[in-house]
Amino acid sequence: MQVKKEYTKVISRKYPEQVVIAIVKDTDGKYNPITLGWTMITSHKPPMMAIAVAHNRHSRRAIEDSGEFVIAFPSSLMADAALFYGTKSGRDIDKLKEHSVATEPGTEVDSLLLTDAVANFECKLESQLETGDHILYVGRIVASHMNTDTSLKRVYTLSSGYKMGAVSPDNC
Ligand SMILES: Cc1cc2nc3c(=O)[nH]c(=O)nc-3n(C[C@H](O)[C@H](O)[C@H](O)COP(=O)(O)O)c2cc1C
Repeated sequence: MQVKKEYTKVISRKYPEQVVIAIVKDTDGKYNPITLGWTMITSHKPPMMAIAVAHNRHSRRAIEDSGEFVIAFPSSLMADAALFYGTKSGRDIDKLKEHSVATEPGTEVDSLLLTDAVANFECKLESQLETGDHILYVGRIVASHMNTDTSLKRVYTLSSGYKMGAVSPDNC
């Protein structure tokens, strides 16, 4: 049986929600990571992914100015970093300096890969769409990288309040 309730109540049933970290070079020249739950694969041929970024995020201008970004799938070892990058703004601080993680340069875009992530995708901005209070940025994937440690698990948000934990597929 379904019970009709207000959206804000019903959407709390969405968990677990995947977590990604997008890394974008901002106009000050620093690499700024932002944690995002609203993300999806939008195409396989050619490969494309989208991220939804709120209007007031520092990352928004950076994405539109640079036209490129990396989408990392953080491992469960990176939960603290994901929380930090998702609660502080690059407008105020250098997040990678204040909470450093291992990084390596992108190969096709001017951004950083997160070394301990399960996977990293280098993206060129293909299109964007205003969707209410967020903007959907679609990136064409120009290079894909996977961690050689296949036992790493992805981090997901498990419940409201940004409680995070590991999720792994059945076959791992
Ligand atoms: C688990 C998690 C998921 C988040 N998902 C999104 C999202 O999908 N879109 C968004 O705009 N902000 C999201 N945020 C909030 C931003 O990461 C946060 O506002 C961040 O401080 C913005 O950084 P910036 O100002 O440097 O761009 C999320 C935060 C967390 C912790």
